[in-house]
Amino acid sequence: TSADKGGWSSFMAKEIAEQPEAIANTLRGRIVDGIVEIPELAGLGADTLRDIDRIVIVACGTASYAASVARYAIEAWARVPVTVELSHEFRYSNPVLSERTLLISVSQSGETMDTLMAVKYGRDAGVKTLSVCNTQSATIPRESDGVIYTHAGPEVAVASTKAFIAQIVALYLFGLHLANVRGTLTAEELAELTEQLTGVPEQLAEVLEVTETVRTLAHWMADTRSVLFLGRHVGFPIALEGALKLKEISYIHAEGFAAGELKHGPIALIEPGQPVFVMVPSPRNSPVMHSKIVSNIQEIRARGARVIAIAEKGDAAVLPYADEVIPLPIAELFMQPLLTVVPLQLFALELSTAKGLDVDQPRNLAKSVTVE
Ligand code: G6P
Repeated sequence: TSADKGGWSSFMAKEIAEQPEAIANTLRGRIVDGIVEIPELAGLGADTLRDIDRIVIVACGTASYAASVARYAIEAWARVPVTVELSHEFRYSNPVLSERTLLISVSQSGETMDTLMAVKYGRDAGVKTLSVCNTQSATIPRESDGVIYTHAGPEVAVASTKAFIAQIVALYLFGLHLANVRGTLTAEELAELTEQLTGVPEQLAEVLEVTETVRTLAHWMADTRSVLFLGRHVGFPIALEGALKLKEISYIHAEGFAAGELKHGPIALIEPGQPVFVMVPSPRNSPVMHSKIVSNIQEIRARGARVIAIAEKGDAAVLPYADEVIPLPIAELFMQPLLTVVPLQLFALELSTAKGLDVDQPRNLAKSVTVE
C-alpha cells in the first residue's frame, strides 16, 4: 500500500532516500575511539583473522558489485589478497582453498540459493565463513562462523539500493577491523578512515540533492535504447552496478566497462548520440586516474558520445568535455563509490518511471532467488 511507502511513489524511491539513515545504522555502535568493534564476529577471533592468507568473497547480482568495491579497500588496508567470485561460478570452479582461506558471503536476503550453496561448499572444504547479511536470522548467516548484519532495514524493491551501500560499509568495517588485528594500519590511519566512514551519512544526504537534475536527464533520455557506463578502480564496479540497475528496472540495454578497456573493444560501440555515464575519480585523491579518465572522456566525445560525468564538485577539468556534470560532495577515495552510485540509482528509477514501468516489481525478476 502507499502507506507502507511512507508517501513515496515506490519502495525504491523510499529506499534510495533512506540511505543516509541506513548507513548510520550500519555504523552504529561499531566504531569506538577510532577502532572498529564487531562483537558478532565471535567465531572469527583475532588469532583466526591474523592467520588467514586469502579472502574469497561470494555473492550474486548487486551484492557481487558491493564485494568488488570493497575488495580494493580490504586489500589496501589489510594487505590480504581478495578475490570476488559469483556464487554459482565458485562452486563449480574447483576452487583452491585452505584452512587459511576466509570465505565471505554477501547477501541482502541471506536466502539466495546460489550463495548458500557456495557457503556450504566452503564450509565442507574446511574454510572459515563470514556472512554479510541484511536479514536477521536468515539461512546464510546461520550457516556461517560469523556475521556482520548490515542493519539497513527491510528492502522491498527488487532493485537493491540501500542494502548495496550498507554491504560496502559493512565490508569496510570488516576491512578496518582486519587491518587493526593484523597491524597493517597505524592508529592514526584507522582513526582517519573511521572518521571518513562516520561522515558518509551526511554526504549521502547531500548527494540526494541531485534528484531533480537526474530526473530531467532521465526524461530527456526516455527513448534511449542503450546506455554505457565507464569507471576505473572502485568506479568500475559502480559502472557495472549502474548498468545493472538500468537493465533491471528500465529494460534498457546497458553495459559497464573498465575505462582502460575502452580502447580494447568497447569504443567501437560509440556512435553519435550514444549516452555514456563516466565515474570520474577525484583529482585530489587520484590525480593519475583522474587524468586518464579525462582523456577517455575526450576520446569518446570526439566520436560523438553524449557524456554524463559524475564528478567531484569543483572539478573544472571535466567541464569542457562533458555534456552534463552531476556534482558529488568532496570525499576521500574509498568513500566516493558510496556517493557515486546514488545518481545512477536515481537515474534508473526516474527512467523506469518516465517509461511508465513498475519500478518495484520488474518483469522476470524476484527479490530473492531461492532456486539454483
Ligand atoms: C536477485 C535480485 C538482485 C540481487 C540478487 C542477490 O537476483 O533480483 O537484485 O542483487 O538476487 O540477492 P541477495 O539477497 O543475495 O543479496
